[in-house]
Amino acid sequence: MTCRKVNIAIIVLAAVVFLLILHHNLLGLSDILKRQSSDVSLVGFQRIDFLPEAPEEKKLVEVPVVITAVENRLGGAIAAINSISSNTQSTVTFYIVTMNDTKEHLRTWISESKLKNVKYKILDFDPQVLEGKIRADERVKPLTFARFYLPDLIPGVEKVIYLDDDVIVQGDIVELYKTPIKVGHAAAFSEDCDSVTSKYLVRGAGSQYNYIGYFDYKKETIRKLGMKASTCSFNPGVFVANLTEWRRQNITRQLEKWMELDVELVSYMATYFCSKMRDFCSLLIL
Ligand SMILES: *[C@@H]1O[C@H](CO)[C@@H](O)[C@H](O)[C@H]1NC(C)=O
Ligand SMILES: *[C@@H]1O[C@H](CO)[C@@H](O)[C@H](O)[C@H]1NC(C)=O
Ligand SMILES: *[C@@H]1O[C@H](CO)[C@@H](O)[C@H](O)[C@H]1NC(C)=O
Repeated sequence: MTCRKVNIAIIVLAAVVFLLILHHNLLGLSDILKRQSSDVSLVGFQRIDFLPEAPEEKKLVEVPVVITAVENRLGGAIAAINSISSNTQSTVTFYIVTMNDTKEHLRTWISESKLKNVKYKILDFDPQVLEGKIRADERVKPLTFARFYLPDLIPGVEKVIYLDDDVIVQGDIVELYKTPIKVGHAAAFSEDCDSVTSKYLVRGAGSQYNYIGYFDYKKETIRKLGMKASTCSFNPGVFVANLTEWRRQNITRQLEKWMELDVELVSYMATYFCSKMRDFCSLLIL
């Protein structure tokens, strides 16, 4: 009996020791696990430590951005520049196109704000180049046409972003800059299916935001171009251009031809119209 009692005591003791050892090992294991998981987060931290080098690499990409600055909307251009430079990891060079009499105002604004450290160059747009190519009502906003002359404005640059002064960029501009431009294409635009101007067109002229709203698809010359009628129009205020290709295709010259045609057409229509209604025409600026 006593023998059996002792046996039971030994078994109980052994069981307790076993449990203790097991528990200890479990603790050890959880320690190891804990250490491993902290190792994992250590690796995570190390990766984060590497981050400061990553932008270093990104900084190698230089992004040339052309933006126009109209005197009475200078704040818009400044806000656009600020939004780009404060959201990018890359080096951006701003080519700010403006009129001669706005240069000083612009320079003062930039140099006396936190933008004084951005890389920028102020370019003078000479409205003389538009002589005979724009309508009377367009002469008050010559900078609208500056985008047509990009290769002349920045001769040494191949790939460039053009932005209107009413744009705010919330992401990194380098992503836009990396947009691939197909071989043989001078620029990449984004589709514009819902802009204010398109909506205005829909209501105002009864047309639509897609090509069929702008072109007369009953004409064969239009159909021959092979443009799908359902394609949305594009936003001319944001694009990425390949100026080498632009020069190769004489895009500036081609645009000028269309501008001249527009002026001719309007003046032809005005002459015709005025021959019928003289009094009303004295009110027109031509
Ligand atoms: C540009 O402005 C400066 C100073 O405001 C003036 O001296 C110069 O003649 C102007 N140039 C042209 C081409 O208008
Ligand atoms: C720009 O166009 C030229 C001529 O077609 C081409 O050789 C060049 O690779 C293009 N560059 C870019 C950045 O797309
Ligand atoms: C572009 O213009 C130049 C000079 O004005 C001319 O020699 C060339 O033939 C033109 N190229 C095209 C593709 O129109």
